[in-house]
Amino acid sequence: MSLFHERPECGGEPNECRINPSSAADLATVMERRLDRRTWLRGAIAAGTTIAVAGLAGAEELPLPQIPDATPRKPKPAPQPAPAPEATPSSLAGPNPSTLTFAEVSHGLDQDIHVAHHYQSNVVISWGDAIVPGLPEFEPAKLTAKTQEQRFGYNNDFIAYMPLPRGSQNSERGLLCVNHEYSIAYLMWPGIKDKQDAVKKLTREQVETELAAHGHAVVEVRRDQGFWIIDVNSPYNRRLTAETPMHVSGPAAGHARMKTKADPTGKLVLGTLNNCAGGFTPWGTVLTAEENFDTCFGGKIADPKIAKREQLNYARLGLSGVTDYAWSRHIERFDLAKEPLEPNRFGWIVEYDPYDPKSTPIKRTALGRCKHEGATVTLSHDNRVVVYTGDDSRGEYLYRFVSDKPYQPQDREANRDLLDHGTLSVARFEDDGRLVWLPLVHGREKLGKKEGFQSQADIVIEVRRAGDNVGATPLDRPEDVEVHAASGRVFVMLTNNSARVKPNETNPRIKNLNGHILELQAPAVNGKFDHTADVFRWDIFLLAGDPSKNEGAKYHPQTSANGWLTCPDNAAIDAQGRLWISTDGSPKVTKNKLADGIYATDTVGPGRALTKMFFRAPTGAEVTGTAFTPDGTTLFVSIQHPGDEETDGVRSTYDAPSTRWPDFKPGMPPRPSVVAIRRQDGGLIGT
Ligand code: FEO
Ligand code: CA
Ligand code: CA
Ligand code: CA
Repeated sequence: MSLFHERPECGGEPNECRINPSSAADLATVMERRLDRRTWLRGAIAAGTTIAVAGLAGAEELPLPQIPDATPRKPKPAPQPAPAPEATPSSLAGPNPSTLTFAEVSHGLDQDIHVAHHYQSNVVISWGDAIVPGLPEFEPAKLTAKTQEQRFGYNNDFIAYMPLPRGSQNSERGLLCVNHEYSIAYLMWPGIKDKQDAVKKLTREQVETELAAHGHAVVEVRRDQGFWIIDVNSPYNRRLTAETPMHVSGPAAGHARMKTKADPTGKLVLGTLNNCAGGFTPWGTVLTAEENFDTCFGGKIADPKIAKREQLNYARLGLSGVTDYAWSRHIERFDLAKEPLEPNRFGWIVEYDPYDPKSTPIKRTALGRCKHEGATVTLSHDNRVVVYTGDDSRGEYLYRFVSDKPYQPQDREANRDLLDHGTLSVARFEDDGRLVWLPLVHGREKLGKKEGFQSQADIVIEVRRAGDNVGATPLDRPEDVEVHAASGRVFVMLTNNSARVKPNETNPRIKNLNGHILELQAPAVNGKFDHTADVFRWDIFLLAGDPSKNEGAKYHPQTSANGWLTCPDNAAIDAQGRLWISTDGSPKVTKNKLADGIYATDTVGPGRALTKMFFRAPTGAEVTGTAFTPDGTTLFVSIQHPGDEETDGVRSTYDAPSTRWPDFKPGMPPRPSVVAIRRQDGGLIGT
């Protein structure tokens, strides 16, 4: 999410508020020491040696990832050509060492999307498009809460492409499972100036429409010639909204802190909120992550007993009762005075079965409660299920869940509750290149009754505080995580950090406006990778930013003037193991007049960390979810909040938007949409 959630007290969006009181060394400090040590380690690699992983039980020798020396590019003398509707090839110094051969899109900023030369795109679905038969064409002025429930929601984010039939690798027909992260009233309705105006003005009907625009959508799609279309008649199509009933499972299910007037069982929640990124499981379910739910609740807790008990919990999540929405004026459960425990029912990872449209989603509380960016699933060497999840706020942590039992490929039913039983851990990064996973298990040191944790339920409800207690490493806004199965490497997007609390003069990345990407290495076991291990190794894959400026950016030295990126956010890995990074670099944060986009890079070999710009988003937008079809010939891309920006103090609104992408029709506001990209000849994306 971008400009919508500006908070003056944070100087940015809510994810930018550092709330974490932990005194553990944050990643910048650890990185600084690590970079110092790596100078020596790199020498060791040059000599052809490998480095033993100190302290790793049964450690084998792992080569350090080869991170190229960054050579800052000379400032570019010639101005960039004006952004063109067609892609502009860029020149690379020397032969291309990358497996990616497309001609790069130019950096720039305009009202439309741009794909690399020899690629084509089509808009598959946009906010307001019907996903059931018989509805008229979308007219924003006629939108009601009831019809929004039958139409594609707002601000699409994560995408999972789930092939049809289930278990197949069909790349011509499948289900698009798409998150709808949040609503923007001033771009959805006329006559609303900004966020504060919306909080004051929105009617109950508009608020209910917003609730219906949040959540998730399942839409059947198929390839028709070279383009993708939706099937409105599909029985799989459904919406999950902020009002869809969902079960609660795991340690917090039925706990007193989860009970409300409407749900005395503490096991049945209405809806899912602020669904950012997510993941999917080998047994064909989808995970959707609840991120900035704190922004939805207004008012003040009236019951002093509850206020006292939840004080640390709510403070640690930045839940202050200052809301970005008008919901608490109209809907009782969003008013803390009336329903003080409703916030405990959000901030979870939700699992649902897209192949069963009647199934009830389940909030899996064993995975902890925070502002989950996503939930990336992989299988470890022994088929236990591992879920990585970043908590996207300044100074928050990276978590890992490991299931007790292994995945059973032949028995789908046996996998149904795998995510209810297992061990949640949090990451501590050491400056010697070790990453230590610290279990968050009730009763262990600093996780007991003395610290206010009566049971595992309290640990998962207040997972940030549990992480503080065990000494987890604060990170610069951990966003999406992707696993490269073949190499056992895990890539973590750290989007940025616009204001560090304690500046450190020796660290060139004190502000880290541009973010970076971490690379974790799970240890190898008999040719597979142990993602359940207590200790991994870690390194820096790239430091984002403009390498021609003195801001400490580090990439492959041949990265072109168009290939550098800022604010990595979401990511995907293709079948060739290449990393596709989507960016959320609000110009306000980064001071760059750059549209967001998608950048691809090899993760191994001579083209490692050589990022290339593949796609450019319209003005005001960020690129969120990306998903490949199994055959790698289509890339689905989520374009979120097109036209959401402020230029020279003037906010783009429904009445005067900065772009009307993708319709470009008078009166139609910009619409968040999913785009399908293919090579014109139908070949593999990227090559
Ligand atoms: Fe919803 Fe962290 O981006
Ligand atoms: Ca973001
Ligand atoms: Ca994101
Ligand atoms: Ca992803």
